[in-house]
Amino acid sequence: MSKVKKIILRIAIAIIVICGGITFLIYSVLKNNDQRKAYAETFGSGDKKAFVMYQPSSTDVMKNITDNYVRGLVDAGYTVDVTYPDLEKEYDVSQYDLVSYGSPVYGGKALDIMKKCVEKITNYKDGIQVFLYTTGVDNKEKEMDGFKKAVQYSNVTTQKIYVNSKTKLEEAYEMGAGK
Ligand SMILES: Cc1cc2nc3c(=O)[nH]c(=O)nc-3n(C[C@H](O)[C@H](O)[C@H](O)COP(=O)(O)O)c2cc1C
Repeated sequence: MSKVKKIILRIAIAIIVICGGITFLIYSVLKNNDQRKAYAETFGSGDKKAFVMYQPSSTDVMKNITDNYVRGLVDAGYTVDVTYPDLEKEYDVSQYDLVSYGSPVYGGKALDIMKKCVEKITNYKDGIQVFLYTTGVDNKEKEMDGFKKAVQYSNVTTQKIYVNSKTKLEEAYEMGAGK
């Protein structure tokens, strides 16, 4: 094979590998918006009531962050109802003292499935706090704008947990314990 042909072959292989990688990334991000198997679990038995809805990420990251956040809430005196977003479901959050929504960030955005579900929820108890938390690697926090817009309520606070932080699980616990 001539030198020119070898170079063309290498370039073609590189293009195929790059396109395959991009397709895989897009596919895995879109997959994160898939509706999960129904899940609802209650933790703790405190007097205050918290609702936590989150969409897991491709790895255990979002689940681990949420588990620790919920542990913190329980220690802060909450009974915590945890669930995944379900577009078919109607949510009644009128009994909760704290409502939290969690999403991993991909391509600068919180997941659409979370935003669509959050948009439908309107019956917040007066004066409560709605809390958004995201997980990700960069500190732009732009994703919070779109996520916040989806919330049909004015008192919204936010926090991002950086997945590369060595203390991310402790930070997640404090996020709940401080409520
Ligand atoms: C394709 C892709 C795009 C991502 N885009 C962002 C981003 O825009 N901002 C950010 O903070 N993190 C971004 N991340 C990091 C993820 O948010 C982080 O790894 C995540 O919260 C945990 O998800 P994982 O279980 O899928 O790794 C991205 C990750 C992937 C794989």
